[in-house]
Amino acid sequence: MEIIVGKTAGFCFGVKNAVDKTIEELKNKKSIYCIGELVHNKLVTRQLEEKGVIFIDNIEEARDNVIIRAHGVPQRTYQKAKELNLNVKDLTCPKVLHIHNIAKEYQDRDYFIFLIGQKDHPETIGTISFCGENAIIIEKQEDISNAVNEFKKTNKKKALVIAQTTFSIEKFNSIVSILKGEIQTIEVKNTICSATKQRQEETIKLSKNVDTMIIIGGKHSSNTTKLFDIATEYCENVIFIESKEDLDLKQINKEHKVGIMAGASTPQKSIQEVVEILTKIC
Ligand code: F3S
Repeated sequence: MEIIVGKTAGFCFGVKNAVDKTIEELKNKKSIYCIGELVHNKLVTRQLEEKGVIFIDNIEEARDNVIIRAHGVPQRTYQKAKELNLNVKDLTCPKVLHIHNIAKEYQDRDYFIFLIGQKDHPETIGTISFCGENAIIIEKQEDISNAVNEFKKTNKKKALVIAQTTFSIEKFNSIVSILKGEIQTIEVKNTICSATKQRQEETIKLSKNVDTMIIIGGKHSSNTTKLFDIATEYCENVIFIESKEDLDLKQINKEHKVGIMAGASTPQKSIQEVVEILTKIC
């Protein structure tokens, strides 16, 4: 068996930064609150819980110290934290913060904003709150005509398109091309993160070149699910696992060339463990 691990598999800069800084914070604090998961990975969540992170659903549940996850939070969470006098450590990825700043700037410049992203994803929910009232989320092509109608109702002259950092490049491009057909003057800022682009591109290349692909990462991680979808398009045998425990060796052919990719919130340890098991069986 030949095993090829993608160079871009695993923690991206923003996730590594959030995890490292949280661990640093815990050196001089007994516990720290985090709204939602810091990153979408059960193993990382469990390890952080053991070190003292308390995961909560609402900012109202926090006491003293709170960290803001890599995907960011809505504007009202910052306001509430201020009202509650909480000590906030903002670990929102700089690339997500950059999108929030673009949204605020274009809202001030009287633009209507189309945010292309997954409607129920925490990052999208956070970003839309920085876009003002004249904004709408587009998740799929079916959402476009309603979104364009909403834009027309406002009588705004200018429109901007931005995207969730981990959205699929192919879907983004196809939605943008339809929007451009409807609104000729629309401005487009492709805010999909370069780490996401590189990982998706590498997944395409690898999937074309191997017999079996293994995708490692959280089942509710947006970017990992996309890697699985992409791999399925180009490779016949694709296995999606969260960690080595999910690996069913009956699905692996020892004669196969196996490619491994992992989402942005998958720790190196999880990738390494899978490689070790595969190395043992061949
Ligand atoms: Fe940031 Fe990109 Fe990762 S936006 S959290 S570096 S996928």
